[in-house]
Amino acid sequence: MAGEPDWVPPGVDTQHANSARVYDYWLGGSHNFLADQDLGRAICAVDPIVRAGARANRAFLGRAVRFLAAAGIRQFLDIGSGIPTQGNVHEVAQQADPAARVAYADIDPVAIAHSQAILAGNENAAAIQADLRDPEKILAHDAIGRLIDFSQPLGLLLVAVLHFVADAEDPWRIVTTLRDALAPGSYLVVGQGTNADKPQVAQAFEKVYNRSVSTQIRMRPRADILRFFDGFDLVDPGLVYVSQWRPDSPGDVPGDPSQFGNLVGVARTLS
Ligand SMILES: C[S@@+](CC[C@H](N)C(=O)[O-])C[C@H]1O[C@@H](n2cnc3c(N)ncnc32)[C@H](O)[C@@H]1O
Repeated sequence: MAGEPDWVPPGVDTQHANSARVYDYWLGGSHNFLADQDLGRAICAVDPIVRAGARANRAFLGRAVRFLAAAGIRQFLDIGSGIPTQGNVHEVAQQADPAARVAYADIDPVAIAHSQAILAGNENAAAIQADLRDPEKILAHDAIGRLIDFSQPLGLLLVAVLHFVADAEDPWRIVTTLRDALAPGSYLVVGQGTNADKPQVAQAFEKVYNRSVSTQIRMRPRADILRFFDGFDLVDPGLVYVSQWRPDSPGDVPGDPSQFGNLVGVARTLS
């Protein structure tokens, strides 16, 4: 469309809000459009700290990758990786070990176009456009196979993406399929929107979001999120609110940790 920046891949609908770009807007990024900004602001009206929540989620992702790197993980598969921003997984992982390998997958063409642009020349990282709801295809993808050795421990990241998979699409089966491809000693990192402690806020969030975005969001109760970890051992501190997961400093945890309605956990395959 005339007037659009040249980084917009052909065929991308910029007139309707999109989950990757709304998140980019909350994070203060520049790869979003009026429709994304309008929805981002509408959600701020029902959940005023959503921007801080997005930053808290991103900070958790960084802490989790550093934790995995310290545990010896040297290859990562990040599905629903989003539009690149500060503290991308390959930056954090390759800071720990420049030879660490990172494969990104996202359904969104804008996210993938940007990922591929920033990864140009990085032989140990790649990004593919793929749908989490077809995990077999991701596992069999050539670019993933070139980077990831499934006979070795892997860090599988599903952060702020499972809530875009409806119950009817059985996200638990999807995680099980991915889990079955992991070597012993692998880790799963999950972050997912919840309706556990603030059901009214979660419901208002869902309502406003789902009116505008075709990828519907589904806030889940704690028990449904715990089920993603079947076949894994959760590491301390278990499934907790995003700021409570191994904070860099106790001051980073708000007085009411449930203010960010996002439960997270990191788990290791059962030995
Ligand atoms: C909120 S962002 C999270 C980005 C990153 N994981 C993080 O936590 O900072 C959610 C991402 O999931 C992607 N996504 C949504 N549904 C997906 C699907 N079925 N398969 C792959 N990616 C999906 C969106 O395009 C978006 O980039």
